[in-house]
Amino acid sequence: PAPGWSVTADVVVVGSGVAGLTTALRCDAAGLRTVVVTKARLDDGSTRWAQGGIAAALGEGDTPEQHLDDTLVAGAGLCDEDAVRILVTEGPDAVRRLIETGAHFDESEEGDLELTREGGHHRRRIAHAGGDATGAEISRALVEAVRARGLRTVENALVLDLLTDDGGRTAGVTLHVMGEGQHDGVGAVHAPAVVLATGGMGQVFSATTNPSVSTGDGVALALRAGAEVSDLEFVQFHPTVLFLGADAEGQQPLVSEAVRGEGAHLVDAHGERFMLGQHELAELAPRDIVAKGITRRMQEQDAEHMYLDARHFGAHMWEHRFPTILAACRAHGIDPVTGPIPVAPAAHYASGGVRTDSRGRTTVPGLYACGEVACTGVHGANRLASNSLLEGLVYAERIAADIAAGHDADSRDGNPLGEGRQDENRPREGGRDETRPREGRQDGNPLGEGRQDENRLHARVPSPAADRPEKPGHPLLAAEARFAIQRIMTDGAGVLRSAGSLETAADRLQQLHTDARDALDENGKTAEPGVDTWEATNLLCVARVLVAAARLREETRGCHWREDRGERDDDNWRRHIVVRLNPDRT
Ligand code: SIN
Repeated sequence: PAPGWSVTADVVVVGSGVAGLTTALRCDAAGLRTVVVTKARLDDGSTRWAQGGIAAALGEGDTPEQHLDDTLVAGAGLCDEDAVRILVTEGPDAVRRLIETGAHFDESEEGDLELTREGGHHRRRIAHAGGDATGAEISRALVEAVRARGLRTVENALVLDLLTDDGGRTAGVTLHVMGEGQHDGVGAVHAPAVVLATGGMGQVFSATTNPSVSTGDGVALALRAGAEVSDLEFVQFHPTVLFLGADAEGQQPLVSEAVRGEGAHLVDAHGERFMLGQHELAELAPRDIVAKGITRRMQEQDAEHMYLDARHFGAHMWEHRFPTILAACRAHGIDPVTGPIPVAPAAHYASGGVRTDSRGRTTVPGLYACGEVACTGVHGANRLASNSLLEGLVYAERIAADIAAGHDADSRDGNPLGEGRQDENRPREGGRDETRPREGRQDGNPLGEGRQDENRLHARVPSPAADRPEKPGHPLLAAEARFAIQRIMTDGAGVLRSAGSLETAADRLQQLHTDARDALDENGKTAEPGVDTWEATNLLCVARVLVAAARLREETRGCHWREDRGERDDDNWRRHIVVRLNPDRT
């Protein structure tokens, strides 16, 4: 639909979690006209739900090098070491700047940061706030800072598509806004830089820790815009999600890894600690290993869940250290002070996403991605616990610096918003990107096509954008399709996958797509455009690409668990699966 209103800015940030608001604050501080658009309210989204904390080498004796080692081990050989090095070395100062921005972390009586442990970390290095309400505190501090600086924000604004100029360069986004007065309806923010910080896609599965807004909107937009996505098959399943029944749907309460970090045990129905002997860190093994350990024991015992036992914490510790989790358990009739907590794995985090370089640039000039929506390479095949908030912070600052540098260069050229910015994708004078050198940058592609094929497998997935040229437009799905997609994905592409289950999922998703396409009326419309129908459409888009990537990854490692596991094959394993939509086929 044609935009009914428009706003012009230097940068539009889409999303308002830690990644989005940090980018926006830094861009604003650099003098860029910045607009934040977000699908619901500013404090909705995944950041606010984060419990455990934010990992950084802040404790005595800890070093970025040790943090790097733990991150690389969790990532199962698929992390980009340069990207991780950036994360762990720039992380501690980024956390200090977050504290300066106004976030209060828990401290000891001596005034030192209190640090806890989580899975895969060999040391206490997770800073937390309000006990187990870290994300809520970060969100509060960032939202307050954004309001205090008077940044322009548009809430209830669902992002639709990327606008590009004749040269294929980013020129803004279209939005569908509801109930915001002058900005109601379909509109556009025109800006030469767009930062996607839209979070994850957990809602592609039936049960997830993600809020209902996590519908893969940023990945779907990027795919429609022709950007590359990478590592989408690596969906992380959090091992300990409060079990509310096998049919529970939508967002489920998380029971933070920090509960295990403080000494809780995973036990089966007989009270046996089944993680002992499976890994040197037992319950604190990397998340994929614990999720697999739980799933395996559930299968062996034909059980729907396992238990997390932390009765030995006692009431005082539960009330002070884990008040959020205690309240959630009690709201569901479970008292962790007197009984074990029923837990099972549920979808939690997309380790892959829109492929970026070390400055957050995607393969579309002017389009950036930050936080869960991005694939910077720091997570590899399995994100290390509490690295996600940190990634959002660190890469947000890098993106803001990159946009500001390009903007300054343009201003010096006398071209504040225009063509000159193409050059920002080329090495600057004198230069290579010291932090993450990539061959092939000379061709103007920040991601260096020149060397990609050595360690990347490129795949094309048929595009919904090219449907029926005679009937232009996307076949919008009916809102109810969301539940069909979630069931298909949970059955076929969940914790356990096989070639057969993935093929069935692919066929069923294709059928949904075909049905929607065939339902196009003479105006090229299927369903009424709105948040529900766009979300269902985005979910289908990301589900199809996720399944396509998972079918190409035949080994079991990281968060990708194939029941019909293929032979171990290190050369094949090390390749990243990079997907683009194929605009020529449906
Ligand atoms: C948790 O608190 O267990 C979640 C932390 C994370 O996802 O990194």
